[in-house]
Amino acid sequence: MTRGRFITFEGGEGAGKSTQSQRLVQALGDAGFVAVRTREPGGAPGAEAVRDLLVQGAIDRWDPLSEALLHYAARHEHLVRTVRPALDSGKWVVCDRFADSTMAYQGYGHGLGRQPVEALYALVVGKTAPDLTLILDLPVDEGLKRASRSAGIEDRYERMGRDFHERLRQGFLDIAGREPERCAIIDARPPPDAVWQAVRKAVGERLTIAWP
Ligand code: TMP
Repeated sequence: MTRGRFITFEGGEGAGKSTQSQRLVQALGDAGFVAVRTREPGGAPGAEAVRDLLVQGAIDRWDPLSEALLHYAARHEHLVRTVRPALDSGKWVVCDRFADSTMAYQGYGHGLGRQPVEALYALVVGKTAPDLTLILDLPVDEGLKRASRSAGIEDRYERMGRDFHERLRQGFLDIAGREPERCAIIDARPPPDAVWQAVRKAVGERLTIAWP
């Protein structure tokens, strides 16, 4: 059994990751792959329970290290119960956010720094690194404006202030600069159809898929 490929979508608030990940799963299916879509924090029952603790409530309810540990607890459940079994059975996994979000939001945004987040990554993710990461990049004000239109009770991060969001945006760009072979930056400013064309092209080129 050939292992499936692991593709992650990353970016700040309101960048359109859910729309683009849905389109990618559909397109992979049309191209003959078995692809599943999942998300973080979440993607397994325990991880979804941890999600509620992270995306709701007061912005200062967690110390930054506790927050990173909670994201990593959820990630471990997700990897063990959902991601690794799917990849091992040959399925492609498309994930809306993954480990780069912890580096960007907690490492850069909250100022935890790279080292503790890298240590958690080594412990939990290990060899299950994404084959490709699409970073949807958008100016902070535009992203927060888009996100506020769909905000429900899961708005804890959106309320964290402009500077926080600026730091995490720069964090994602820094991550991409450090790992250019894994990461593709996609300009998320154009309309969804145009962003999709850029996503399709990046996935096709980097994972050598001949789209039908
Ligand atoms: P979502 O809105 O994309 O579903 O993600 C929920 C929020 O969780 C989002 O504001 C980003 C945040 N987040 C982190 O801060 N660290 C992480 O490791 C992950 C996966 C998400």
